[in-house]
Amino acid sequence: MFEKVKLAPESFLVCSQCNKSYDAADVQSYCLACQKPLLVKYDLTGGISKDRLATKTSNMWRYAALLPVRDSSHIVSLGEGLTPVLPFRNLSRKYGYEHLWLKDEGHNPTGSFKARGLSMAISKALELGVSDCIVPTAGNAGGAMSAYCAAAGINATVVMPKKTPQIFKDECGLFGAELILVDGLIDQCGREVAKIKATRNVYDVSTLKEPYRLEGKKTMGYEIAEQMDWQLPDFILYPTGGGTGLIGIWKAFQEMLDLGWIEGNLPRMIVVQSDRCSPIVDAFNQKNMAGKRSYSTSIANGLAVPNAFGKDLIMKVLRESGGIALAVSENEILQGVKEITRHEGIMISPEGAAVWMALRKLTNDKLIGHHQKILLLNTGTGYKYLENLL
Ligand SMILES: Cc1ncc(COP(=O)(O)O)c(C=O)c1O
Repeated sequence: MFEKVKLAPESFLVCSQCNKSYDAADVQSYCLACQKPLLVKYDLTGGISKDRLATKTSNMWRYAALLPVRDSSHIVSLGEGLTPVLPFRNLSRKYGYEHLWLKDEGHNPTGSFKARGLSMAISKALELGVSDCIVPTAGNAGGAMSAYCAAAGINATVVMPKKTPQIFKDECGLFGAELILVDGLIDQCGREVAKIKATRNVYDVSTLKEPYRLEGKKTMGYEIAEQMDWQLPDFILYPTGGGTGLIGIWKAFQEMLDLGWIEGNLPRMIVVQSDRCSPIVDAFNQKNMAGKRSYSTSIANGLAVPNAFGKDLIMKVLRESGGIALAVSENEILQGVKEITRHEGIMISPEGAAVWMALRKLTNDKLIGHHQKILLLNTGTGYKYLENLL
């Protein structure tokens, strides 16, 4: 149960591109002037001490002092967050890594890190009086939104590619959401959402088209710091689709620098994608693929995002952190799943397996040393993907 959580100082909404501000007391989407994501900012001038963390709360709401809910009775929690950071014992020995860990987001309600973003977004939706939410999804976000909407008593509509493992579809139905299946990838689902919004008053919870999922995801950054005793790793490898996790972790690091909670160099952030759908890797390598290449689906469904709405923010994280973006093949992802399940006993998601295979490439290419401190993000459980894997 909750100890009495201490809430954040007042928050503000600011456009990530043009700095135009928006009233956080109203339902907001993205910047209407320049069509870019809005960011939540806090007045941190008075400082916030680590004592304000709700350390008896064993979920992400222990960081409520840095989250934008105004009244704690609006918090919709299913126990998300505070996921373990596990040593990669056997594979470290096999490949010679000295400091390698995996943060396992598969422990979250509905089996992925999406639970954090949706716990936050649906809490805020409840606070703002929203009664109807919609989301385009590659799978995990749809299940998470359906669950939190069920808990909040809010109607949910989920738009998902037909080519998604059945379990992702079934859970939406069980949670009481309306499920719409679409031929194509998540961008096609986004177009379907736009059509529905033209006919119905429904709150669009698409990645970065509302400002609060990012705030939930940023708790991964706070947790990484706290769990590693406020000493951040040298590298964080993150499986990137829409990029909210990556951007959120980086936002948390910036806030903690401002608060004086951490100091020194920040980790270099590594974006990992599937070579079937690698728009960020292509942009990083300055390949202009517009019109030349069609991206397709992946066994790592969450990575099949051809046009990330937050692309500029992802590129900014890569720039600011001295990061790298790279892609792995479908065969490598499958090989990674088999290696991690067999040697570490973790039912890793294909997205998580992708980052492990990317690390092996980066060490082979001497871009990461075996002695460095490395954190891999496994963003979900592999149990929901067995249909893709077997
Ligand atoms: C398991 C998993 N990993 C990674 C991603 C990509 O997430 P992000 O939007 O944070 O890049 C998704 C998105 O659907 C996902 O489900």
